Amino acid sequence: MILSIESSCDDSSIAITEISSAKLLFHAKISQELEHSNYGGVVPEIASRLHAQALPKILLEAKNFLNHSFSFIKAIGVTTQPGLNITLIEGLAMAKALSLSLNIPLISINHLKGHIYSLFINQPQAIFPLTVLLVSGGHTLIIEAKDASHMSIVATSMDDSFGESFDKVAKMLSLGYPGGPIVEKYASYCAPYSVYDFPIPLKNSKKLAFSFSGLKNAVRLAIIKENATDTITDEFRAKICAGFQKTACNHLLMQLKKYFKNKKDNHDDIKNFCIVGGGSANIYLREQVAALCNAFDIQLLLSPLEFCSDNAAMIGRAAIVKYIQKDFANPLTLQASPKSDANEFLSL
Ligand code: KG4
Ligand code: ZN
Repeated sequence: MILSIESSCDDSSIAITEISSAKLLFHAKISQELEHSNYGGVVPEIASRLHAQALPKILLEAKNFLNHSFSFIKAIGVTTQPGLNITLIEGLAMAKALSLSLNIPLISINHLKGHIYSLFINQPQAIFPLTVLLVSGGHTLIIEAKDASHMSIVATSMDDSFGESFDKVAKMLSLGYPGGPIVEKYASYCAPYSVYDFPIPLKNSKKLAFSFSGLKNAVRLAIIKENATDTITDEFRAKICAGFQKTACNHLLMQLKKYFKNKKDNHDDIKNFCIVGGGSANIYLREQVAALCNAFDIQLLLSPLEFCSDNAAMIGRAAIVKYIQKDFANPLTLQASPKSDANEFLSL
């Protein structure tokens, strides 16, 4: 079994995964959404202190699950990058202490690769080649993954990420944090005919890239305009959320369509495509991407909703690959890093 730890942002999580079957045996997570809600985003210092409280609590739960014996644990997997340095360190310190005291290997996991492996929790075989749309709070990327160790980033955001733009829109509408689920909920209250109309970013650009700052600004201006003549009502919030969600997702879809078409024209067909990361829990996005993949005859893989946002189960699943390769880290020198290691992904 592998014990894995995730603390890259505002979720403290520990999982135990069986190595040969990839079966998830134990998984617990404590989220800090309430604590950050007043700030409209994650406050790193608060997040770090909360991890210091939550991780030992979850470890105790894991220990109880193991009948107070770590003897079946063969390695410790831990997220080391990318993320908030001072929160990553909390998980890393615990992982190092466990690795040294139990005398078992330590495995360093890239959080973005972890998200990709959220697709294969409970599945011993991963599927490659795989093209990935990763939409999280920190990233909006298209990744071409030939296999577990050959991954290239082929498109990225020029400014904000997909998830971050949901968080900012929720903050502008005083809806709390995290924005994704709240904006999605408000959007569902809006009647189809009254959805606010926003221009789709990069509509006429040939470039394969993402951008959300212009859309965020358009939302800001719409709110200012409404505020000047009227007070902000829930009905208005629903209209804005529905319009924003539709436009942000349609922007992703337009870029994906461009990318799929280009691949097809070059006879470089995509077989397997997936959306991962917190934003992949968005139902409108899942449905629209499913229809697009269907039109291009591409198989779409999606994680169960509970594993879209940050969790240690995906870190444990990714750690199995490195365990089999005996790709271990030195507990005396392993460091956390806010950015991905250059060896993890090739940037085109
Ligand atoms: O992957 P994740 O849990 O953490 C990072 O690695 O950043 O992603 C969190 C992000 C947040 O910005 C959150 O607002 C967004 O994912 N998110 C969503 C939805 N659920 C979470 N965005 C859109 N629709 C959702 N349903
Ligand atoms: Zn994440």
